[in-house]
Amino acid sequence: MTEAAMSLARKRVVVIGGTSGIGFAVAALAQEMGAEVVIASSHAANVNAAVERLPFATGNVIDLRDEDSVSRFFENIGAFDHLALTAGDWGMQMFIGKRDLDLVAARDGFSVRFWGALAAVKHGIRSINPNGSITLTSGMLAHRPIKSAPLATAAGGAIEHLARGLAIDLAPVRVNAVCPGIILTDHTKLMPEDRLQAFVARLPLPRGASPAEAAAGYVYLMLNSYVTGQVLPVDGGGWLV
Ligand SMILES: NC(=O)c1ccc[n+]([C@@H]2O[C@H](COP(=O)([O-])OP(=O)(O)OC[C@H]3O[C@@H](n4cnc5c(N)ncnc54)[C@H](OP(=O)(O)O)[C@@H]3O)[C@@H](O)[C@H]2O)c1
Repeated sequence: MTEAAMSLARKRVVVIGGTSGIGFAVAALAQEMGAEVVIASSHAANVNAAVERLPFATGNVIDLRDEDSVSRFFENIGAFDHLALTAGDWGMQMFIGKRDLDLVAARDGFSVRFWGALAAVKHGIRSINPNGSITLTSGMLAHRPIKSAPLATAAGGAIEHLARGLAIDLAPVRVNAVCPGIILTDHTKLMPEDRLQAFVARLPLPRGASPAEAAAGYVYLMLNSYVTGQVLPVDGGGWLV
């Protein structure tokens, strides 16, 4: 890539879920690479705190569970170049025993990550630059299922296949997904150390990633204008083992 192509200067990057964790790191890296950044999530206090940490960014509230909120958000922000969707709630029942599956909670687990992402694509596509990109977020459980977490596997798979379908449907806008392994955000840091170690010990790179390492995947997918319909694992080699 040329030096100009490696830059996000004069690009407008929207990060939904950008107030913490992976999303905040994406926003920070995009800004470092010259982009004008819009950070968004559902709690105004989180948006304000994130903008304080990233002073040149602007912040807006969006609730991916509420289509009116999504529609209003995109009307307010106007034209942009790249959209990264890293929003996710941790309400999904990850470890459901087969006898006590709560179908209402199971459906709800797709509300932000899958249906919310689709709502953002629906309303965002009206004002995205045709040369721009959308990057969704799946997760390693899509490829390496573990006992008692079939919904997380299903949700990640649905998001990745949505990215592939949208890449055809929305071209020339590019649509990809990042598939994170263990990324050391505030949430994963709450995991008991032995559980975290059990996840990462078998990896070729036996540790969790920093949010900045994950963010580099998103920014790569924004920058490379010939990549679409792909899933980029940032997982320490987790797909290999
Ligand atoms: N961290 C990992 O190891 C890992 C691994 C695999 C996959 N992932 C996936 O990557 C995504 C980000 O993970 P993370 O660790 O960065 O999580 P995080 O720090 O908890 O960030 C989640 C973000 O989503 C926002 N959000 C939650 N509900 C929302 C809603 N209804 N509308 C809009 N925004 C909403 C949150 O802000 P508000 O509360 O203000 O809305 C927050 O900014 C998640 O989908 C997760 O499943 C993470």
